[in-house]
Amino acid sequence: RAEYQAKSMALSDAMSAACDFYRQHLRSAPNAVDYLKRRGLTGEVAAKFGLGYSPDNWDSLRQVFPDYEATALVESGLVIDRTDEEGNNRKRYDRFRDRIMFPIRNTKGQVIGFGGRVLDSGEPKYLNSPETPLFQKGSELYGLFEARQAIRDAGYVLVTEGYMDVVALAQLGFPQAVATLGTACTPTHVHKLLRQTDHVVFSFDGDRAGRKAARRALDACLPHATDNKVIKFLFLPQEHDPDSFVREMGAEAFERQIHDAMPLSQFLLNEVTAEADLSTSEGRARAQYDAKPLLQLMPPSSLRLQIVRGLAQLTQSTPNEIESLFELAKPIAS
Ligand code: CTP
Ligand code: MN
Ligand code: MN
Ligand code: MN
Ligand code: MN
Repeated sequence: RAEYQAKSMALSDAMSAACDFYRQHLRSAPNAVDYLKRRGLTGEVAAKFGLGYSPDNWDSLRQVFPDYEATALVESGLVIDRTDEEGNNRKRYDRFRDRIMFPIRNTKGQVIGFGGRVLDSGEPKYLNSPETPLFQKGSELYGLFEARQAIRDAGYVLVTEGYMDVVALAQLGFPQAVATLGTACTPTHVHKLLRQTDHVVFSFDGDRAGRKAARRALDACLPHATDNKVIKFLFLPQEHDPDSFVREMGAEAFERQIHDAMPLSQFLLNEVTAEADLSTSEGRARAQYDAKPLLQLMPPSSLRLQIVRGLAQLTQSTPNEIESLFELAKPIAS
């Protein structure tokens, strides 16, 4: 236990040293500064998020870590070892080269990982730190440390997909935004968010991937969707993500999108009836079939009852029929 802590302390020191190095180098990298400017970012917001630049070299981090060959450095994910097929001739190199660096901080403010974006085009567009004892993607949210006070002030959190969405929204008047880290939104993410606020608004990209992400976020929310929480989903036009939308359409238009976001109950009912022809018995049965696993994820609550009522109406059933057919957990009698 003590040993594990010592190890993760060293890891966070390494990450923070690398973060400082990347920040320093942004200043002397006009092409990286140009890129950020072309994307409309100010120096102020870049500083708030600690944005940096990883130089276009295979081993720049030698300047940060005189013991560049130390085995522990691999664990940080900052360097990668390549060996030949026999496992010999190890060659070590920096994972992040010629990229805009987004440090990922935990809620204590420690740097626990990075996302790195290529300037302009190139593959992969984003490269992320691997998971370490300090960094688990399924439970960390980009920007949460920076957004905490703003979430309290606004009374809600905006959940997006991308680093750029968080930074752009913060600059343009929505500092209460966070992002999942290139992974699906998990129940752990939702739990963490609901510890900060009782009101969550998801705002994913308008494309197909974003709609799929919203559906998976719905599933992740259901175990936590109790009567004292408000969970909503904002659907942007197909060609937009929050960054592009707020830049092109303006903060007021985005504010309206937030105001008009779809409540979880309605999104759930839309999802289960979208493919079903409710004018036929088969279609109504199909809608109930699709709703069953979702409602089973929900704790007993008034909200669940309201959704059951809505489904009953749409499928010519009664709430009692649905509750017994779905074997929904009953509230514990008090
Ligand atoms: N992502 C990733 N690896 C990729 C592509 C995306 O990890 N190769 C993650 C990143 O966290 C990214 C998010 O998924 O921010 C959303 O991806 P996408 O919408 O493609 O990128 P944007 O955030 O919109 O980035 P940009 O505006 O810079 O193109
Ligand atoms: Mn509230
Ligand atoms: Mn996308
Ligand atoms: Mn984008
Ligand atoms: Mn996007």
